[in-house]
Amino acid sequence: MNPIEHLLQEHRDIMSQVADLRQAVSDLSARGEAALPGALPVFRRIGRMMETQLARHARKEDEALFPALEAIIGVEDGPTAVMRREHKSIHGRGELLRRTLHELNEVEHPLIVAGGETMRSLTASGGTADSLRANAQEIIELLDMHFLKEEQILFPMAQNVLDSSALDDVWKRIEAMAA
Ligand SMILES: [Fe+2]
Ligand SMILES: [Fe+2]
Repeated sequence: MNPIEHLLQEHRDIMSQVADLRQAVSDLSARGEAALPGALPVFRRIGRMMETQLARHARKEDEALFPALEAIIGVEDGPTAVMRREHKSIHGRGELLRRTLHELNEVEHPLIVAGGETMRSLTASGGTADSLRANAQEIIELLDMHFLKEEQILFPMAQNVLDSSALDDVWKRIEAMAA
């Protein structure tokens, strides 16, 4: 199995559930507190999904895919000047890759976890329609931006720079994590 395909499929699964959250946000915007009884079960479901399925997905990226890419960046930043000259374009991509990995892994994944925690505490403690809507809106924007960045920058680069044996290794690590 190609690990990139697997991660993309998980994006689709997760986004199809987030569609309900988008609907709940627009109901809350339109009808305020009156929409709360219908929205709360959706918020609870998405809160649980973020804690389980989405957290597992991010772990696969953090612990299986990203280390494989970091190993490649290490090689490209190696001391061989000739290689650096010949691979200027690869080096340029390496910088973008490094920055993107940092944003995805060290900035956005923790923000997504924090958003899910806020959502779970708001649904448990009787948050207002306004606070829930604002929290959900934030999560939706964060996920849209994050998945887009992975799908348009990171995954195509990974597909490009990892050879088939590196991709195999990533897939094996993912499988080991699911076991
Ligand atoms: Fe991610
Ligand atoms: Fe992802």
